[in-house]
Amino acid sequence: MIVVIAGTNRAGSNTLKVAKLALRQLQAVGEEATLIDLAELPAQLFTPTVYGDKPAEFEPFQKAILEADGILTVTPEYNGSYPGILKYFIDMLRFPESLVDMPAAFIGLASGEWGGLRSVEQLEMVFHYRHAHLFGRRLFLKGISKLLDDDGHLLDPELTRRFDELVSGFAGFCRKVRQG
Ligand SMILES: Cc1cc2nc3c(=O)[nH]c(=O)nc-3n(C[C@H](O)[C@H](O)[C@H](O)COP(=O)(O)O)c2cc1C
Repeated sequence: MIVVIAGTNRAGSNTLKVAKLALRQLQAVGEEATLIDLAELPAQLFTPTVYGDKPAEFEPFQKAILEADGILTVTPEYNGSYPGILKYFIDMLRFPESLVDMPAAFIGLASGEWGGLRSVEQLEMVFHYRHAHLFGRRLFLKGISKLLDDDGHLLDPELTRRFDELVSGFAGFCRKVRQG
């Protein structure tokens, strides 16, 4: 099972649309996949005591990560980085087992010219620190508001090809890691 994380909780986010595209592409190549939408994190998670005791409502999120064969994170760029909610989610995961040896790939997106490059590179540092296996290829979607149609599909065929290649390539990478 590959987990796709939509890396923001902003209502109506483009990140969620792109994460859903990735989910569909994984399923199209025969991979079991599920989506973690950070907008669905339980309200009980946002209290100072959770660093010790996690609310039961967080367990399905934690379980999905622990059982994942790979994590594909779709991240927007917020203030030159990835969203705080995404770091908070990572900080809430059980340590150290949640990310150790986990295949991990990233897709960045932004309204700006750099397409989430900064977010992805900063996230890669965190996942690398947590001993994940980073997939070598990444994709950056710049000027995101002009790239999607009303149904959340990428308009450009070449970008679609590169997107599908990245996602399918990551599925293959996860299979190889799984087989050892
Ligand atoms: C709090 C916040 C900060 C942002 N900072 C940046 C930024 O530093 N660079 C950029 O290109 N776009 C920035 N944006 C615009 C996002 O790239 C834009 O919202 C895009 O659609 C992707 O994020 P979304 O999933 O929220 O839609 C920012 C948006 C928000 C809400």
